[in-house]
Amino acid sequence: MLQSSVAPRLLRALSGEAFDSPPVWFMRQAGRFLPEYRAIRETAKDFISFCLNPELAAEVTLQPARRFPFDAAIVFADILLIPLALGQAVWFEAGEGPRLGPLPEIDRLRAGIDAVEDILRPVSETLRRVRAALEPERALIGFAGAPWTVLTYMLRGRGGEQPEARAHAYAHPEAVDQLIDILIEATARYLAMQAAAGAQVLQIFESWAEGLPDDQFLRLVTDPHARLIARLRELGVDLPIIGFPRGAGANLTAYAAAVPVQGLGLDTQTPLAFGQLLQAGGKTLQGALDPLLLRAGGPALDQRVEEMLEAWSSGPYIFNLGHGILPDTPIDHVDRVVRRVSGR
Ligand code: CP3
Repeated sequence: MLQSSVAPRLLRALSGEAFDSPPVWFMRQAGRFLPEYRAIRETAKDFISFCLNPELAAEVTLQPARRFPFDAAIVFADILLIPLALGQAVWFEAGEGPRLGPLPEIDRLRAGIDAVEDILRPVSETLRRVRAALEPERALIGFAGAPWTVLTYMLRGRGGEQPEARAHAYAHPEAVDQLIDILIEATARYLAMQAAAGAQVLQIFESWAEGLPDDQFLRLVTDPHARLIARLRELGVDLPIIGFPRGAGANLTAYAAAVPVQGLGLDTQTPLAFGQLLQAGGKTLQGALDPLLLRAGGPALDQRVEEMLEAWSSGPYIFNLGHGILPDTPIDHVDRVVRRVSGR
C-alpha cells in the first residue's frame, strides 16, 4: 500500500481526509466537449470498436488529464459493454444514442458470464496503458453500470425508458430478479478484472435510480449494489468504491446506511445540508455541480462553486458534476472551475 502522504488525493479523500482544495474530476470528462476527443472519435469505425481499441481508448482517457489539473482519469469504456459481452447486440445510432438487439434467453445470458472477461479484455489493456502513462498523483478510476440501470437498457432496447422497465419489474418479478443476479456476477468479474489491470477506484453508475418506491429501490438498487460489493470483496478486490445512485432522492439515506461504499456520488438535486448529513455519517461525498450551470458559466457558476466548497470541503469531498458533462460545454468554463477548486 502507498503511504497516505503520497497516495493520490482522490484516494485520500475516499479514506476520509478533508482538503481545503478538494480533489476534482468530471463525469464524462473523456468525451465530446473536447475537440481532441472528436478528432479521434472520427477515426474509429463505430463506438463499440472505439471502446474496445486500447490504443484509442487510452489516448482519450488521458486527454482531459493533459488539459486540466484533474485528480483522476476514468477509463474510456461504456456501461453497455456488459450486455454486449453477455451476448446481446449493442450499437449506437448517430445523434440518437444506444440501441440493443432482442434480449437473449436467460440461460444464454447466464452462460455468457464466463465469456465476459475474455470479451472485455481490451478494457484491461486500456487501463494498463493509462496507468503506465498517468502521473502517480492522479488516480485511475474503473467503472461499470449498476445492474438495474444496465437492465433498463437491456429490457427496452434503448435508454430513457425507465418507467417501462419498472413496469416490467412489477409484471415479471422472477425474470427480473434472475437478470439482476446475472448482471451482479458479470459486473463483479468485469470490475475485478479492471482492478487487476490497475484501476485504483471503482465507480458504480446507477443512472436510473429515480422514481422507484422505497421497496423497489431496496430490491433493484440497494440490494444489488450491496451484493455486487460483497462479491467484489469475495473476489479479493479491496479498492474504494463510489456508488452513484442518480435520482435516489430521499432513498439516499437508506442507500448510504446499507451499501458499504466509501464514496457517495450525489446528483444535481441533492441539497447541500443533506450532503453534510451524509458526510457526518462517514461517507465521502462526490458531486454535484449542475452540468447545465457549468455550461452556462458566469457569476452564477462562480457563486455556486463557492457555496459547494463552503458546504462540503470541511469534510471528505471530491468535487464533481451531478451528471455527465454536456458536449457543448465551453472549455474555458471547465478550466475556470477546475482551477478554482484545485487551487492549481
Ligand atoms: O469520461 C468518462 O466518463 C468515461 C467514459 C464513459 C462513457 N460512458 C463514454 C461515452 C462513461 C463513464 C459512460 C457511462 C455511461 N454510458 C452511462 C452512465 C452515466 C450517465 O451518463 O448516466 C450511461 C447511461 C451510458 C450509456 C450511454 N453511452 C448513452 C446513453 C450514450 C449516448 C448518449 C451520449 O452521451 O451520446 C452513450 C455514448 C457515450 N458513452 C459517449 C461517450 C463519450 C458519446 C458517444 C460518442 O462519442 O459518439
